[in-house]
Amino acid sequence: MSSYGKYLPPEKVRTIAVLGTGSVGASWMALFLAHGIRVQAFDPAPGAEERARKFVSDAWSALRTLGIAQQLAAPQDLISFCSSVTEVVAGADVIQENVPERPALKKQLLEEVERAISPETIIISSTGGISPSSLQQYGKHPQRLVVIHPFNPTHLIPLVEVIGGKETADEIVEWAMEFSRRMGKHPIKLRKEASGHMTNRLQFALMREAVYCLIEGIASAEDIDAAVRYGLGPRWALMGGILTLHLAGGSHGMKGILDHAGDAIEGWMTPLGSLRLTEEVRNELVEAAEQVAGGHAVGEWVHWRDESLVRLLALLQQHPEPELQQ
Ligand SMILES: NC(=O)c1ccc[n+]([C@@H]2O[C@H](COP(=O)([O-])OP(=O)(O)OC[C@H]3O[C@@H](n4cnc5c(N)ncnc54)[C@H](O)[C@@H]3O)[C@@H](O)[C@H]2O)c1
Repeated sequence: MSSYGKYLPPEKVRTIAVLGTGSVGASWMALFLAHGIRVQAFDPAPGAEERARKFVSDAWSALRTLGIAQQLAAPQDLISFCSSVTEVVAGADVIQENVPERPALKKQLLEEVERAISPETIIISSTGGISPSSLQQYGKHPQRLVVIHPFNPTHLIPLVEVIGGKETADEIVEWAMEFSRRMGKHPIKLRKEASGHMTNRLQFALMREAVYCLIEGIASAEDIDAAVRYGLGPRWALMGGILTLHLAGGSHGMKGILDHAGDAIEGWMTPLGSLRLTEEVRNELVEAAEQVAGGHAVGEWVHWRDESLVRLLALLQQHPEPELQQ
């Protein structure tokens, strides 16, 4: 028996049922196909199949540039769109859920899925904020449900967060880690459930301060975003906040910076003020986003971001960490 007990080992997964083929689901589809996995898909929205197939075709050249996809063109023949939950899960090795972030909808869907699959079929959810413990209440076999939380665009951003709920079996969490690595991801395992998981907590801690700086008039919207794009972002593409601070302390590292500037840092870590997303603040944020977008449509920015991301990720792939550069 494999270390995954009665569950199919990640390397043997051949067919995945993808439920919900919106922005995250279609992106997962492209990645699964790039790894030679067949996709059975279900999404009741009109035109969903056409949109998902187009997304996969459009995503393919990025996946080839990064060496993830080998085939010249997206293998559309490995996709079959199904017209019901029962049909989509039939014969699938794994179920992968990406429906809208509405607990009642996920509950209804997971209950339906559970009735149609064997207890050994693993269920992965992409949920951005619902705890796996609450999702797994909806099934009779809660131990096989795990969250693999991706980051937009899912087929490009390397990170995924793997989160088990209270009932998730340890081998399922390990399965999800290994499955993610096989999909070319850099998985991190969360040791506890937290509202918004973890990475979004980091992201929105920064956003809280950004919004506060905006409404207090500390800087313009363009300059607040420029601080990240030209200041924090380039370093953060190479290392996280902890190592960044360690390097800021000179030869004494983290201890050096804390001895030298710990009291000041404690002040900077303290939120500038409490923040509510009132109607007024929301309107200000919408206006700020329009200023920063500079008249370009969201689609244009997404295209530019994804093309630039491919170049950045390709560059990072060529740069091993220092201990590897003997
Ligand atoms: N958008 C992001 O940046 C992001 C990132 C990480 C995780 N997530 C999570 O991924 C999930 C999906 O988010 P999204 O942004 O792709 O949403 P989306 O609205 O783009 O796509 C959801 C899709 O699910 C379909 N759907 C609705 N009901 C369905 C049903 N009963 N069965 C099958 N399909 C159904 C919709 O038609 C739609 O195409 C959410 O749980 C979200 O929290 C989103």
